[in-house]
Amino acid sequence: MRVCVLGVGHVGLVSAACFAELGHDVIGLDDDAHKIASLQSGVVPFYEPELPELVARHISTGNITFTGSAAEGIAGAEVVFICVGTPRKDDGAPNLSHVQAAAASVASHATDSTVVVEKSTVPVRTGERIRQALSLQGQARGSGFVHHVVSNPEFLREGSAVRDTLYPDRVVVGADSDRGHAVMRELYEPLLARHDCPYVATDVRTAELIKHASNAFLATKISFINAIARICELAGADVHIVADAMGHDARIGRAFLNAGLGYGGSCFPKDVEAFVHIAAELGYDFGMLRETQRINIQAKAWPLQQLRRLVWNLADKEIAVLGVAFKPGTDDVRDAPALDVIDDLIAEGAAVRLHDPVALDHVRDRFPQATFCDKAEDALRGAHAVVVCTEWDEYRAISPTRLAELLTYPVVVDARRAWDPSALEDAGLTVAAVGQPQVPAPGL
Ligand code: UDX
Repeated sequence: MRVCVLGVGHVGLVSAACFAELGHDVIGLDDDAHKIASLQSGVVPFYEPELPELVARHISTGNITFTGSAAEGIAGAEVVFICVGTPRKDDGAPNLSHVQAAAASVASHATDSTVVVEKSTVPVRTGERIRQALSLQGQARGSGFVHHVVSNPEFLREGSAVRDTLYPDRVVVGADSDRGHAVMRELYEPLLARHDCPYVATDVRTAELIKHASNAFLATKISFINAIARICELAGADVHIVADAMGHDARIGRAFLNAGLGYGGSCFPKDVEAFVHIAAELGYDFGMLRETQRINIQAKAWPLQQLRRLVWNLADKEIAVLGVAFKPGTDDVRDAPALDVIDDLIAEGAAVRLHDPVALDHVRDRFPQATFCDKAEDALRGAHAVVVCTEWDEYRAISPTRLAELLTYPVVVDARRAWDPSALEDAGLTVAAVGQPQVPAPGL
C-alpha cells in the first residue's frame, strides 16, 4: 500500500521504517528541510537502536523515500499518518495547531479519498476536529473527496521502538467507517501474519482514550512505587523486595515498579498533564493523576534532600552526576529528571561534574557552568558525593572499592538503584539508595 507518514520525528520515522519493513511503499514527509536532507542521505538524526539499519535497508529496497514537498508526499497515498508534534501549551493543554495544519495539508494535496490516521497522542475527540479540518479544506478546494479518519495510537518506547512497533503487545485501531477499518486491517495484515497479537478494532474516541489511559496508568504505577519507596525509607524496609513480591501477583505484574527518580521523557509528563486537562474540560476532576504528578515532582527533589542530610552545605562541594538521559538506552533529555536534579544542585551553589555516555551534547548549552566529563571516572575523581540519575550499565560495572577510591567524601546518592547498597556499605561508603532504610549521616 502507498503510505505517507507526515512528520518524521521519533514516532513518525519508526512507524515509516516499520511499514517499509512490512512491504509497504512509504514516503516520509516533513517540512524540516534539514531533517529530510539528512534522511535522504540515510542519516537518522536521533539515537534509536536498529532504526538506522532499517532505514538504510529500505532506502536501498526502494520501500522508503523522503520528501519536503507535501504535494509529492500526499499525492497517491492510500493512507496518511499524522505524526506531528503536540507540544504543551502554558496551561498544560496540548497544542494541536500542527495536527490541524497536517489535516488541512492532506485535504489540499490528496488526489483521491484517503484514510487519515492520527498517531500523534491527542485528546479524545481530536478525530472529529481532524474530520472538520479535512472537510473545511476539502470544501475550500472543491475536491469532493471523502476522507476517513482513524486513530491508531502507538505504544513504542524509546530505545526499543523498532521492536515495540514490529512486535507490539496489541494493535489498536479506532475508525468510524467500514472503509477506515478495512484499509487499516489490510495495512497491518503483514505484521499480524508474522506476529500474533490482539487487534483491537473500535471507534475513534475509544482508541484515543486507550492511549492516554495506558500512559497515565503506567505513570501512576511509577508514582505509586515511588510513594512506597518514601515509606520504606522511613519504616526501614526495602522497596526492591516489596516490588518483587508485589510483582509476583499476576494481577499487578513487576513491570514499571522500579522506584527511582520519577518518570521523564517526551511522553509521560506531557501526556499525564494533557489528560488532567482534557478530563477537566470534559467535566471530570482527575485528582488521582494530579497526585501522580505531585509524587513525581517529589521524587526528583529526593537527591538534594539526601545530599543536604549527608554532606550538609553544598556551596563549596563538587558533586558528580552520573546520567542525564531520561532513561538508559537513549540520548533523549526531554523532561529528564536529571535536569531538575542538576538545577537544584546549581541553585545550591555546588560545582557539578556531569557524565552520560550519549546525552551530554544535549545539555552543554543548558548548563554552561557545569564540567562535562568524557568518562564516568573523571566525574567521580575528587567529587564530594555522587548522584546516579540514569542507571546505565556502565555505572553498574564500577566496583564499590573503585568508587570509594575516587570520591573525596564517601557519599553515594543512588536514585536509580544502580548499585547494591550493601556492597557499597561494605566498601565503606555512606549510601542513600532510593527506597532503602535511611542510614544516619556520617558523624551524626
Ligand atoms: C513511554 C511508554 O512506555 C510508551 O508506551 C509510550 O508510547 C511513550 O512513552 P518512553 O517515554 O520511551 O515510553 O519511556 P519508558 O520506558 O516508558 O519510561 C518512561 C520513564 O519512566 C523513564 O524516565 C523511566 O526511567 C521511568 N520509569 C520507568 C521508572 O521510573 N520506573 C519504572 O519502573 C519504569
